[in-house]
Amino acid sequence: MSLILFDRPEDGIAVITLNRPEKLNALSTPLLAEFSAALDRAEADPAVRVVILTGVGDKAFAAGADIAEYRGRREKAFMDFQLAGRKINDRLEAFPKPTIAAVNGYALGGGFEIALCCDMIVVSTTARLGLPEGLLGLSPGGGGTQRLIRSLGRHVTAELLLTAWRMKGERAHQLGLAAAIAEPEKLMETALDKARAMLKVAPLALTEMKRLIRIGADAALPTALALEQEVLFRLYVSNDGQEGIEAFLDKRSPNFKGA
Ligand code: COA
Repeated sequence: MSLILFDRPEDGIAVITLNRPEKLNALSTPLLAEFSAALDRAEADPAVRVVILTGVGDKAFAAGADIAEYRGRREKAFMDFQLAGRKINDRLEAFPKPTIAAVNGYALGGGFEIALCCDMIVVSTTARLGLPEGLLGLSPGGGGTQRLIRSLGRHVTAELLLTAWRMKGERAHQLGLAAAIAEPEKLMETALDKARAMLKVAPLALTEMKRLIRIGADAALPTALALEQEVLFRLYVSNDGQEGIEAFLDKRSPNFKGA
Protein backbone atom coordinates (compact mmCIF):
# COMPACT_ATOMS: atom_id res chain seq x y z
CA MET A 1 0.00 0.00 0.00
CA SER A 2 1.25 3.47 -0.86
CA LEU A 3 2.49 5.53 2.05
CA ILE A 4 1.50 8.66 0.18
CA LEU A 5 -1.70 9.31 -1.74
CA PHE A 6 -1.83 11.83 -4.57
CA ASP A 7 -5.20 13.20 -5.62
CA ARG A 8 -6.42 15.90 -7.97
CA PRO A 9 -9.84 16.80 -6.50
CA GLU A 10 -10.28 19.89 -8.67
CA ASP A 11 -8.57 21.75 -11.49
CA GLY A 12 -5.35 23.34 -10.32
CA ILE A 13 -5.24 21.58 -6.93
CA ALA A 14 -3.29 18.53 -5.77
CA VAL A 15 -3.79 16.88 -2.39
CA ILE A 16 -0.88 14.89 -0.97
CA THR A 17 -1.98 12.65 1.91
CA LEU A 18 0.37 10.92 4.35
CA ASN A 19 -1.00 7.41 4.53
CA ARG A 20 0.43 5.40 7.42
CA PRO A 21 -2.48 5.52 9.83
CA GLU A 22 -1.39 2.60 12.01
CA LYS A 23 1.67 4.65 13.07
CA LEU A 24 -0.10 8.01 13.07
CA ASN A 25 1.64 8.86 9.79
CA ALA A 26 5.09 8.81 11.44
CA LEU A 27 7.72 9.94 8.98
CA SER A 28 9.70 6.83 8.08
CA THR A 29 12.43 6.75 5.44
CA PRO A 30 10.17 5.02 2.87
CA LEU A 31 7.34 7.47 3.56
CA LEU A 32 9.67 10.45 3.09
CA ALA A 33 10.94 8.97 -0.19
CA GLU A 34 7.36 8.70 -1.48
CA PHE A 35 6.61 12.18 -0.17
CA SER A 36 9.57 13.53 -2.09
CA ALA A 37 8.36 11.78 -5.27
CA ALA A 38 4.89 13.29 -4.77
CA LEU A 39 6.46 16.75 -4.52
CA ASP A 40 8.37 16.02 -7.77
CA ARG A 41 5.06 15.15 -9.42
CA ALA A 42 3.27 18.25 -8.13
CA GLU A 43 6.17 20.47 -9.15
CA ALA A 44 6.49 19.03 -12.64
CA ASP A 45 2.78 19.18 -13.52
CA PRO A 46 1.89 22.65 -14.81
CA ALA A 47 -1.79 21.89 -14.17
CA VAL A 48 -1.07 21.75 -10.44
CA ARG A 49 -0.97 25.28 -9.05
CA VAL A 50 -1.66 24.74 -5.34
CA VAL A 51 -0.74 21.79 -3.12
CA ILE A 52 -2.62 20.73 0.02
CA LEU A 53 -0.88 18.39 2.48
CA THR A 54 -2.80 16.35 5.00
CA GLY A 55 -2.80 13.08 6.93
CA VAL A 56 -5.11 10.16 6.39
CA GLY A 57 -7.88 9.63 8.95
CA ASP A 58 -8.86 12.00 11.71
CA LYS A 59 -6.23 11.24 14.31
CA ALA A 60 -2.96 12.53 12.90
CA PHE A 61 -1.39 14.80 10.34
CA ALA A 62 1.93 13.22 11.33
CA ALA A 63 3.14 12.29 14.83
CA GLY A 64 6.74 13.09 13.96
CA ALA A 65 9.80 11.28 12.75
CA ASP A 66 9.58 7.51 13.00
CA ILE A 67 11.09 6.99 16.45
CA ALA A 68 11.59 3.29 15.68
CA GLU A 69 14.27 4.34 13.21
CA TYR A 70 16.15 6.20 15.95
CA ARG A 71 16.95 3.11 17.99
CA GLY A 72 20.57 2.02 18.02
CA ARG A 73 21.63 4.08 15.05
CA ARG A 74 25.23 5.02 14.48
CA GLU A 75 25.83 8.75 14.69
CA LYS A 76 26.36 9.12 10.96
CA ALA A 77 23.19 7.21 10.05
CA PHE A 78 21.21 9.35 12.53
CA MET A 79 22.64 12.56 11.11
CA ASP A 80 21.97 11.40 7.53
CA PHE A 81 18.33 10.70 8.45
CA GLN A 82 18.01 14.16 9.99
CA LEU A 83 19.66 15.89 7.07
CA ALA A 84 17.40 14.09 4.59
CA GLY A 85 14.34 15.32 6.54
CA ARG A 86 15.73 18.81 6.72
CA LYS A 87 16.37 18.82 2.98
CA ILE A 88 12.75 17.89 2.26
CA ASN A 89 11.53 20.64 4.60
CA ASP A 90 13.79 23.22 2.95
CA ARG A 91 12.46 22.12 -0.42
CA LEU A 92 8.88 22.36 0.77
CA GLU A 93 9.42 25.87 2.11
CA ALA A 94 10.92 26.97 -1.20
CA PHE A 95 8.40 25.00 -3.27
CA PRO A 96 7.54 27.03 -6.37
CA LYS A 97 3.78 26.60 -5.84
CA PRO A 98 1.82 27.60 -2.75
CA THR A 99 1.26 24.93 -0.13
CA ILE A 100 -1.45 24.52 2.51
CA ALA A 101 -1.15 22.16 5.49
CA ALA A 102 -4.55 20.79 6.51
CA VAL A 103 -3.75 19.64 10.04
CA ASN A 104 -6.31 17.00 10.92
CA GLY A 105 -5.00 15.78 14.30
CA TYR A 106 -1.55 15.37 15.85
CA ALA A 107 1.15 17.42 14.12
CA LEU A 108 4.07 16.69 16.38
CA GLY A 109 7.83 16.96 15.88
CA GLY A 110 8.59 16.43 12.20
CA GLY A 111 4.86 16.58 11.41
CA PHE A 112 4.63 20.09 12.86
CA GLU A 113 7.88 20.98 11.09
CA ILE A 114 6.32 20.03 7.74
CA ALA A 115 3.26 22.17 8.50
CA LEU A 116 5.54 25.09 9.41
CA CYS A 117 7.16 24.87 5.97
CA CYS A 118 3.81 25.35 4.26
CA ASP A 119 2.60 28.80 3.27
CA MET A 120 -0.67 28.43 5.08
CA ILE A 121 -1.98 26.18 7.83
CA VAL A 122 -5.60 25.26 8.44
CA VAL A 123 -6.46 23.15 11.47
CA SER A 124 -9.28 20.96 12.66
CA THR A 125 -10.73 21.45 16.13
CA THR A 126 -8.97 18.17 17.04
CA ALA A 127 -5.51 19.34 15.92
CA ARG A 128 -2.64 19.17 18.41
CA LEU A 129 0.58 20.84 17.39
CA GLY A 130 3.87 20.57 19.19
CA LEU A 131 7.57 19.86 19.32
CA PRO A 132 7.77 17.24 22.12
CA GLU A 133 11.27 15.97 21.28
CA GLY A 134 12.46 17.09 24.73
CA LEU A 135 10.41 14.24 26.21
CA LEU A 136 12.70 11.87 24.30
CA GLY A 137 15.82 13.65 25.56
CA LEU A 138 16.26 15.19 22.10
CA SER A 139 15.47 18.43 20.31
CA PRO A 140 13.88 19.10 16.91
CA GLY A 141 16.12 18.83 13.85
CA GLY A 142 13.89 19.66 10.89
CA GLY A 143 13.86 23.43 11.33
CA GLY A 144 11.04 23.54 13.89
CA THR A 145 12.76 25.60 16.56
CA GLN A 146 13.88 28.30 14.17
CA ARG A 147 10.77 28.45 11.96
CA LEU A 148 8.54 28.64 15.01
CA ILE A 149 10.47 31.60 16.46
CA ARG A 150 10.06 33.39 13.16
CA SER A 151 6.39 32.54 13.02
CA LEU A 152 5.17 32.96 16.60
CA GLY A 153 8.04 34.65 18.42
CA ARG A 154 10.35 33.63 21.21
CA HIS A 155 8.00 33.12 24.12
CA VAL A 156 5.37 30.93 22.48
CA THR A 157 8.24 28.91 21.01
CA ALA A 158 9.75 28.54 24.47
CA GLU A 159 6.45 27.34 25.89
CA LEU A 160 6.05 24.77 23.12
CA LEU A 161 9.62 23.52 23.38
CA LEU A 162 10.30 23.75 27.09
CA THR A 163 7.01 22.29 28.29
CA ALA A 164 6.40 19.91 25.33
CA TRP A 165 3.00 21.59 25.09
CA ARG A 166 0.58 20.16 22.53
CA MET A 167 -1.12 23.29 21.35
CA LYS A 168 -4.78 22.92 20.47
CA GLY A 169 -6.00 23.90 17.03
CA GLU A 170 -8.10 26.65 18.55
CA ARG A 171 -5.04 28.27 20.14
CA ALA A 172 -3.06 27.96 16.90
CA HIS A 173 -5.88 29.82 15.20
CA GLN A 174 -6.05 32.49 17.92
CA LEU A 175 -2.30 33.07 17.61
CA GLY A 176 -2.53 33.47 13.86
CA LEU A 177 -0.52 30.35 13.09
CA ALA A 178 -3.59 28.76 11.51
CA ALA A 179 -5.50 30.72 8.89
CA ALA A 180 -8.72 28.88 9.66
CA ILE A 181 -10.20 26.27 11.97
CA ALA A 182 -12.92 23.77 11.11
CA GLU A 183 -14.67 20.69 12.44
CA PRO A 184 -12.80 17.58 11.22
CA GLU A 185 -15.37 16.77 8.53
CA LYS A 186 -15.15 20.33 7.15
CA LEU A 187 -11.35 20.62 7.24
CA MET A 188 -10.66 19.60 3.63
CA GLU A 189 -13.38 21.87 2.32
CA THR A 190 -11.81 24.72 4.32
CA ALA A 191 -8.39 23.96 2.80
CA LEU A 192 -9.94 23.73 -0.66
CA ASP A 193 -11.56 27.14 -0.16
CA LYS A 194 -8.14 28.67 0.56
CA ALA A 195 -6.71 26.89 -2.48
CA ARG A 196 -9.56 28.15 -4.69
CA ALA A 197 -8.88 31.71 -3.51
CA MET A 198 -5.22 31.26 -4.48
CA LEU A 199 -6.23 30.07 -7.94
CA LYS A 200 -7.80 33.47 -8.60
CA VAL A 201 -4.47 35.21 -8.01
CA ALA A 202 -2.24 35.45 -11.09
CA PRO A 203 0.18 32.49 -11.13
CA LEU A 204 3.37 34.53 -11.51
CA ALA A 205 2.26 36.90 -8.77
CA LEU A 206 1.60 33.91 -6.51
CA THR A 207 5.08 32.50 -7.04
CA GLU A 208 6.79 35.83 -6.64
CA MET A 209 4.88 36.84 -3.51
CA LYS A 210 5.57 33.47 -1.96
CA ARG A 211 9.28 34.05 -2.59
CA LEU A 212 9.04 37.57 -1.14
CA ILE A 213 7.53 36.25 2.08
CA ARG A 214 10.18 33.54 2.44
CA ILE A 215 13.15 35.75 1.70
CA GLY A 216 11.73 38.83 3.40
CA ALA A 217 11.22 36.97 6.67
CA ASP A 218 14.99 36.68 7.05
CA ALA A 219 16.42 39.59 5.11
CA ALA A 220 17.32 43.06 6.38
CA LEU A 221 14.48 45.53 5.66
CA PRO A 222 16.32 47.60 2.98
CA THR A 223 17.21 44.40 1.10
CA ALA A 224 13.67 43.08 1.36
CA LEU A 225 12.15 46.38 0.23
CA ALA A 226 14.46 46.49 -2.78
CA LEU A 227 13.38 42.96 -3.66
CA GLU A 228 9.74 43.92 -3.32
CA GLN A 229 10.16 46.72 -5.88
CA GLU A 230 12.10 44.47 -8.23
CA VAL A 231 9.31 41.87 -8.10
CA LEU A 232 6.60 44.45 -8.75
CA PHE A 233 8.43 45.88 -11.77
CA ARG A 234 8.90 42.39 -13.18
CA LEU A 235 5.20 41.61 -12.71
CA TYR A 236 4.17 44.97 -14.20
CA VAL A 237 5.91 44.22 -17.48
CA SER A 238 4.61 40.64 -17.60
CA ASN A 239 1.67 39.75 -19.87
CA ASP A 240 -0.41 38.83 -16.85
CA GLY A 241 0.35 42.14 -15.14
CA GLN A 242 -0.88 44.04 -18.18
CA GLU A 243 -3.84 41.70 -18.60
CA GLY A 244 -4.90 42.17 -14.96
CA ILE A 245 -4.92 45.95 -15.32
CA GLU A 246 -6.79 45.86 -18.66
CA ALA A 247 -9.35 43.36 -17.36
CA PHE A 248 -10.10 45.48 -14.29
CA LEU A 249 -10.58 48.62 -16.38
CA ASP A 250 -12.68 46.72 -18.95
CA LYS A 251 -14.80 45.28 -16.11
CA ARG A 252 -14.16 41.67 -17.16
CA SER A 253 -12.42 38.62 -15.61
CA PRO A 254 -8.70 38.44 -16.35
CA ASN A 255 -7.34 35.64 -18.48
CA PHE A 256 -4.00 34.91 -16.82
CA LYS A 257 -1.52 32.73 -18.66
CA GLY A 258 1.32 32.56 -16.15
CA ALA A 259 3.71 34.69 -18.17
N1 COA B 1 7.26 7.21 15.58
C1 COA B 1 6.95 5.90 15.48
N2 COA B 1 5.78 5.38 15.85
C2 COA B 1 4.86 6.23 16.33
C3 COA B 1 5.09 7.60 16.46
C4 COA B 1 6.36 8.09 16.05
N3 COA B 1 6.68 9.38 16.10
N4 COA B 1 4.00 8.19 16.98
C5 COA B 1 3.09 7.21 17.16
N5 COA B 1 3.62 6.03 16.78
C6 COA B 1 2.97 4.71 16.79
C7 COA B 1 2.88 4.14 18.19
O1 COA B 1 4.09 3.53 18.56
C8 COA B 1 1.74 3.16 18.02
O2 COA B 1 2.24 2.02 17.37
P1 COA B 1 1.78 0.53 17.88
O3 COA B 1 0.28 0.51 17.80
O4 COA B 1 2.44 -0.40 16.92
O5 COA B 1 2.27 0.45 19.28
C9 COA B 1 0.82 3.88 17.05
O6 COA B 1 1.62 4.84 16.38
C10 COA B 1 -0.32 4.61 17.74
O7 COA B 1 0.25 5.49 18.68
P2 COA B 1 -0.15 5.51 20.23
O8 COA B 1 0.98 6.10 21.00
O9 COA B 1 -0.63 4.16 20.66
O10 COA B 1 -1.39 6.52 20.19
P3 COA B 1 -1.91 7.43 21.38
O11 COA B 1 -3.20 7.98 20.92
O12 COA B 1 -1.87 6.71 22.66
O13 COA B 1 -0.83 8.64 21.47
C11 COA B 1 0.64 10.35 20.59
C12 COA B 1 -0.67 9.52 20.41
C13 COA B 1 0.84 11.17 19.33
C14 COA B 1 0.49 11.28 21.80
C15 COA B 1 1.82 9.39 20.83
O14 COA B 1 1.81 8.40 19.81
C16 COA B 1 3.16 10.05 20.79
O15 COA B 1 3.56 10.70 21.74
N6 COA B 1 3.93 9.89 19.68
C17 COA B 1 5.28 10.40 19.56
C18 COA B 1 5.27 11.88 19.31
C19 COA B 1 6.70 12.41 19.23
O16 COA B 1 7.46 12.33 20.17
N7 COA B 1 7.06 12.96 18.06
C20 COA B 1 8.36 13.48 17.81
C21 COA B 1 9.24 12.41 17.27
S1 COA B 1 10.94 12.89 17.13
